[in-house]
Amino acid sequence: MIRVAVFASGTGSNYEAIMRYTAQLTVPDIEVGLVICDQPQAGVIAKAVRWQTPVFLVERRQFGSKKAYEQQILSRLQQERIGFVALAGYMRLIGPTLLSEYYGKIINLHPSLLPAFPGLDAVGQALEAGVKVTGVTVHFVDAGMDTGPVIAQQAVAIDDDDDHESLSQKIHALEHQLYPRIIHQCALGEIYLDQGKVCRLVR
Ligand code: GRF
Repeated sequence: MIRVAVFASGTGSNYEAIMRYTAQLTVPDIEVGLVICDQPQAGVIAKAVRWQTPVFLVERRQFGSKKAYEQQILSRLQQERIGFVALAGYMRLIGPTLLSEYYGKIINLHPSLLPAFPGLDAVGQALEAGVKVTGVTVHFVDAGMDTGPVIAQQAVAIDDDDDHESLSQKIHALEHQLYPRIIHQCALGEIYLDQGKVCRLVR
C-alpha cells in the first residue's frame, strides 16, 4: 500500500475527487493517509474530517524560516510513512527541504495548459488573454512556480459566453477526472521521472 499525502490550501474539491477514486478501487493499492493544510479556514479541512483523513494544519507564520516550516511537514510525512505527495490547490512553492526527500514523488495540478498562464488565477489569465482553448496540466514539481516536467494535459474550449465561474467549473470537472488517475499511476511508479524525463512503464 502506497500512502499518499494531499497538500491543499483551499476548497479541496480535488482532494474529495481523489477520495472518491481511491474508495472505489478494486485493488486498493494506494490510500490518502494525510492532508497537509496551511490555512485554518480552508474548506478542505471539513472535507478531510468527513472522509476521516488526518489533517496536519501547519501555518507558515508560526515558523521563523521556510526551512523550519518544511522540516515540520517532512517529519510528519515520515512519521506517517508517506511515499507520495499530490499538491491540490496548495498555494506555496515547495522548497529544498521537501524536494530533497520527495523529488520525483511530488506532483502538482494546474488549471491551464502550462507553460501558458502559470501562477495565480490561471482561469482569469486565460479569459483576459482572450484565448479560445485552455486546460489542465499535471506535472512533477521542481523548485519553480508551475514548472517541472509535464505528465498529462487536457484541453478545455472557452466559449464566447464563458465567464470565470463557468470556465472554472469546466476545468474542475476535468481535473476531478484526470488527477486521481495520474496520482495513482505515479504513486505506483507506472509513471516516473528518469533524468528529468517523464517515463511510463509499458505493460
Ligand atoms: C485547482 O483548480 C487546481 O488546478 C489549482 O487549485 C485548484 C484547487 O481546487 N492548483 P480545489 O481546492 O481542489 O477545489
